[in-house]
Amino acid sequence: MTDLLLLPGDGIGPEVTRQVRRVAEALTPDLTLDERLFGGISYDTHGVPLTDEALAAAKSARAVLMGAVGGPQWADAPRDKRPEAGLLKLRAEMQVFANLRPALCFQPLADASSLKRELVEGLDFMIVRELTGGIYFGEPRYIEDLPGGGQRAVDTQVYTTAEIERVARVAFELARGRRNKVHSAEKSNVMDSGLLWRRVVTDLHQREYADVQLEHILADNAAMQIVKNPKQFDVMVTDNLFGDILSDAAAQLTGSLGMLPSAALGVAGAPGLYEPIHGSAPDIAGQNLANPLAAILSFEMALRWSLGRPADADRLFAAVEKALESGARTRDLGGALTTDQMGDAVLKAL
Ligand code: IPM
Ligand code: MG
Repeated sequence: MTDLLLLPGDGIGPEVTRQVRRVAEALTPDLTLDERLFGGISYDTHGVPLTDEALAAAKSARAVLMGAVGGPQWADAPRDKRPEAGLLKLRAEMQVFANLRPALCFQPLADASSLKRELVEGLDFMIVRELTGGIYFGEPRYIEDLPGGGQRAVDTQVYTTAEIERVARVAFELARGRRNKVHSAEKSNVMDSGLLWRRVVTDLHQREYADVQLEHILADNAAMQIVKNPKQFDVMVTDNLFGDILSDAAAQLTGSLGMLPSAALGVAGAPGLYEPIHGSAPDIAGQNLANPLAAILSFEMALRWSLGRPADADRLFAAVEKALESGARTRDLGGALTTDQMGDAVLKAL
């Protein structure tokens, strides 16, 4: 059985996952690694962004680590063959419904944030994004021609009680091991799905998690509060679309989008899917400029959540911290290190 399947993908994906491979070989040489094409490169080679074979390999691994997918060269590919469609299919097939996106400000990076140091210093906030439902998956969805000219596009936001409850449960459980506070973000003021979301979270809270502090927050206000006073948050649970957007905002608080890892988890025991939340960054792809820390920290999360290696995860986390303390910075953090050199810095700290 493969321990970790690497899906380097497109753009900067291969560069950053190469650093994960180096770290894994140094830190956990006993883990078995495997690799498959995924995303645009798989589409170019096999005609689909995710082959059945790659999907089977992902489902049978203990953890999957993805780099990034997509790029302008696939903008005109049929929508169901686009790299992003491959990623959504992978998430859906692996049934990884809870996406943990930690926004953690490393002490040495407090000045790299676009917010004032005092607002972000010590920030440790976890977004739990619902990942396999909502408007990214809802049917119907289409673009149609209108008789009088022009077109009409439809996407469907849809959630069931069960989908909301299982992701909210993850948020409450996480909060209990942290500062015991959950914000649930939706738009119950204008959306029925938001109304159901609020009711289900409230019911679950009353039934099973009354010891956890729960606050409901409208998603637009959440966006404002994230940039105004992010340290008020401990765990925020939200839907697929809002979670996508709010986690990019939260990432920037930490200094750079290049710092944020994520873990997508399903039911206990099923393989997790780990991904840096940054995209494929086509503008810097292939130039050895990308920050590999989000990918390396995604591996750290895989060690912790899927591979049963918390001590190795702690060591890796400490090594990243130490590398940053020593002044190691890629360009996104205002430094001049290449991707490889940042990998070197982490290896040296290890
Ligand atoms: C993310 C990304 C993806 C998403 C894209 C690449 C499909 O933005 O993981 O946040 O929208 O989920
Ligand atoms: Mg996103």
